Amino acid sequence: MTTNHKQLLAWVAEVEALCRPDQVEWCDGSQAEYDRLTQLMVDTDMATRLNEKKRPNSFLFRSDASDVARVEARTYIACENREDAGPTNNWIDPVELKKTMTELYTGCMKGRTMYVIPFSMGPIGSPISKIGIEITDSPYVVVNMHIMTRVGDKVIQALGDDGEFIPCLHSIGAPLADGEEDVPWPCAPLEQKYIAHFPEENLIWSYGSGYGGNALLGKKCLALRIASNMARQEGWMAEHMLILRLTDPAGKRFHIAAAFPSACGKTNLAMLQPTIPGWKVECIGDDIAWMKIGEDGRLYAINPEAGFFGVAPGTSMESNPMAMRSLEENCIFTNCALTDDGDVWWEGMDGPCEHAIDWKGNEWTPESKDKAAHPNARFTAPASQCPVICPDWEDPAGVPIDAFVFGGRRTQTVPLVAQAFDFDHGVYMGAMAASETTAAALDVGQRLRRDPFAMLPFCGYNMADYWSHWYAMGDKLGDKAPKIFYVNWFRTSRDGRWLWPGFGENSRVLKWMCERIEGKIGARQTPIGNLPADGDLDLEGLEIDAEDIAELLHVDCKAFKSDLEDAEAYLAKFGDRVPARLRAQLEAQKKRLG
Ligand code: OXD
Ligand code: MN
Repeated sequence: MTTNHKQLLAWVAEVEALCRPDQVEWCDGSQAEYDRLTQLMVDTDMATRLNEKKRPNSFLFRSDASDVARVEARTYIACENREDAGPTNNWIDPVELKKTMTELYTGCMKGRTMYVIPFSMGPIGSPISKIGIEITDSPYVVVNMHIMTRVGDKVIQALGDDGEFIPCLHSIGAPLADGEEDVPWPCAPLEQKYIAHFPEENLIWSYGSGYGGNALLGKKCLALRIASNMARQEGWMAEHMLILRLTDPAGKRFHIAAAFPSACGKTNLAMLQPTIPGWKVECIGDDIAWMKIGEDGRLYAINPEAGFFGVAPGTSMESNPMAMRSLEENCIFTNCALTDDGDVWWEGMDGPCEHAIDWKGNEWTPESKDKAAHPNARFTAPASQCPVICPDWEDPAGVPIDAFVFGGRRTQTVPLVAQAFDFDHGVYMGAMAASETTAAALDVGQRLRRDPFAMLPFCGYNMADYWSHWYAMGDKLGDKAPKIFYVNWFRTSRDGRWLWPGFGENSRVLKWMCERIEGKIGARQTPIGNLPADGDLDLEGLEIDAEDIAELLHVDCKAFKSDLEDAEAYLAKFGDRVPARLRAQLEAQKKRLG
């Protein structure tokens, strides 16, 4: 399909002249295109086709050992004033960065094909959706974008001759000299990698990495960093949240949006199989929520993505059967192990593996000292393949949100669940969220880090202004604002045992939330929020020691007090941009803790 969109044609021509690819291909989003590109990558040893009988139409990729995760230290917000990026982002002068990156982009696609990918974040035609155009020299990116977004002619059609789009330029940064042989996963060295956002122009430039969040620019770059900034300006919300529908035995529906840092079980919660009779969960999204206030004054959410880019290790029929069943065909696997019968395997998958080729391409047995799959190995799966995908997951109007849930990975201190006293207190809970770090980012060293609203790596502007935006949204929503909860599935005992079984059993906590939302039950007021009163958490059929439950619901005021000191120091970093209402919450918490 051709386009008459002048601005788009001019941008594509400009990028072509800069990057000098051997040829340019416009992506139509068809199955034939997907099949042709996957076959091309199999033929050039970039991909392995998995056993057709075991996992039809599925492929395994092994990345370069240096290109296995997001790189936060190379991720930039390039706006005019440093203060507008804030202390949690890497700020860089946009003029200087453009100069550096233009040099890198010059001739960077030599020997390669430049693909132009028109994509929509959100169902085409939804008032909440946005169109992006990604230019890339990576066929791996094209096929992943096919799964993760809506790609192709239908987007060009929706764009028309003068529609608005977000330009997203990506190169792996590995031009080929004449006659030079390619490698399975070309990319640039770390010091040449740049994941750059220009929020004042709604522009994304990424160079040097082929890995997920650095290269599939619709996801973290557009749907979170750029969109969060647009959302603030336009009065909506772009959040790092799963969206699920919970239906109670009487058929009443609740929609929950939950924010957890990367690799803290968002995909598992989004597809949870409740262990309590009569309750049902349906998945709407597992990573990102875009939310707007509807005509009735409630907050409506869509999932801007069309697929799941999930962490493979730890995913099993026991931990997340619905994810496993989403992976049966038409999937892309990255940095998983390859079994002798041509299937994938990872640590924590059901059943042992006696022999495999590991993610680096080496022979592997259980005696090997390295892991078979990289801890951040990923699957890319079409959301439509999830057996519990909600029938309304593509409803352009979105679903009305009843509750926000925040949380993180905390082996100590933080109880299983607490409800905020009100919206303002909930914003404080979200802003002060902290989590023990995981493998989703390459370069995050410290054990516990504050990750406000799970947006630390994804907020495209000053985090303190983001908190103000939350208050502004709360004010607009008034008594229709979702209720706010904080959970922690990861508490351990002194001897290192998990105190809470998690997974499907988390439905018990969700049920408690629904009963609170409906005003069916009271709560035990504590200095940090409202916790389940004795007997209110449905534990029927669950074998758990009363002592463990007491520990899970215990509020250790001393530990919270020492956390407050850290919270105060953290807020100080944002100077006078911190909303007074957030400071007031901190003072109130201090008083309550005594
Ligand atoms: C992700 C992440 O890939 O948060 O979703 O890192
Ligand atoms: Mn994520």
